[in-house]
Amino acid sequence: MSILSGKKVLLGVTGGIAAYKTPLIVRLLIKQGAEVKVVMTPSATDFVTPLTLSTLSQNPVVSTFTAEGEGDHPNWNNHVELALWADLMLIAPATSNTISSMVNARCNNLLLACYLSAQCPVYIAPAMDLDMYVHPANQKNMTQLERFGHVIFPAQEGFLASGLEGKGRMMEPEAIVTALAQSLAEKAPLYGKTVLITAGPTFEAIDPVRFIGNHSSGKMGFALAEEAAKLGAKVVLVSGPTALKAINPTIKLVAVISAQEMFTAVFKHYDTVDIAIAAAAVADFTPTNPVDQKIKKKSGLLEINLKPTLDILAEMGKQKKAQFLLGFALETQNELENAMAKCQKKNADAIVLNSLNDQDAGFGGDKNKITFIRKNGTTTAFELKTKTEVAADIFAQIIASI
Ligand code: CTP
Repeated sequence: MSILSGKKVLLGVTGGIAAYKTPLIVRLLIKQGAEVKVVMTPSATDFVTPLTLSTLSQNPVVSTFTAEGEGDHPNWNNHVELALWADLMLIAPATSNTISSMVNARCNNLLLACYLSAQCPVYIAPAMDLDMYVHPANQKNMTQLERFGHVIFPAQEGFLASGLEGKGRMMEPEAIVTALAQSLAEKAPLYGKTVLITAGPTFEAIDPVRFIGNHSSGKMGFALAEEAAKLGAKVVLVSGPTALKAINPTIKLVAVISAQEMFTAVFKHYDTVDIAIAAAAVADFTPTNPVDQKIKKKSGLLEINLKPTLDILAEMGKQKKAQFLLGFALETQNELENAMAKCQKKNADAIVLNSLNDQDAGFGGDKNKITFIRKNGTTTAFELKTKTEVAADIFAQIIASI
């Protein structure tokens, strides 16, 4: 899944010949899952039709402060609403005239009104003739826009509409969309970090067809993995048997069955990760001697000898260097006290306490009610929420702690 997926992009098109390439920008953004609305300057409509852009963006295209309404009353195109709708604004192509107006807060068209109202990151792809591009006035204006915190996608070398050759062409649509995605990724809070998550149950074989397992669905661990990926992290998800699939294709899913396999998979990655989360419901015991052949039904009692499994979280605690280590705890009595003791004993940085006091929360279900407990003893309790929302709360706590 692209980082642009679900992002609301306001594309501002100004009146330069490169406007003929903007339908391709819209297509590429839509292909990456973005929602696109287009605002044009009136002169941009001479270069590319609003119909083309509205068809491709599947949204109305606006270029004037008012539009034809019912009877004698025109409709007002609300620039503030449009600007605040956007997660990001891309102005491509940006002409010398528009760039100068942006620097000077001129507001003589709807696009500029949207720009001045926008609270989101702004990206600008200038396009103009080569001498205009290098003119000190334009260079000064572009530097000023960068000082405002905007990102300039610099013009490229090549043939220009004037017949001259040089720097001034708008960056190609593919390159603009790639640069946009890269810039968003770099702004993501977990960009450059690797997160390791254990999820689901483990199955401990008794014989080739029977096992000791538990009812963990893996939903909490998978929700954490999706959230980490959304926040820009590289994610390794080591999961026991579940029916779930990772949605974000950047998540590396390592499927395991037993506690021993989960242990081995975790320690292949643990050294190099920044954050490790033990959300798996690892079996505490495993049969001492699993047999190769199916055990036949016999009269009398069958005894299965069990031995403890390796504690993956405790081992991560022992080997901890710079990682932020988070465990989970499910307690039925003295919840806070026991969870805190677990945090200390396993050398975790924090523990998420799952409450069993709400019948909608916990194993198998879609909701969870948690308390985030830090190793210094401070706690934050949350309401009953969906596991996706809980995952967002947990990462907000982790990000605040690292
Ligand atoms: N855990 C683990 N490996 C195990 C057992 C547990 O990594 N073999 C992790 C779980 O993923 C969870 C935490 O340890 O993050 C706490 O698990 P829990 O079952 O609540 O605690 P236990 O240590 O098993 O203790 P008890 O069951 O006695 O409360």
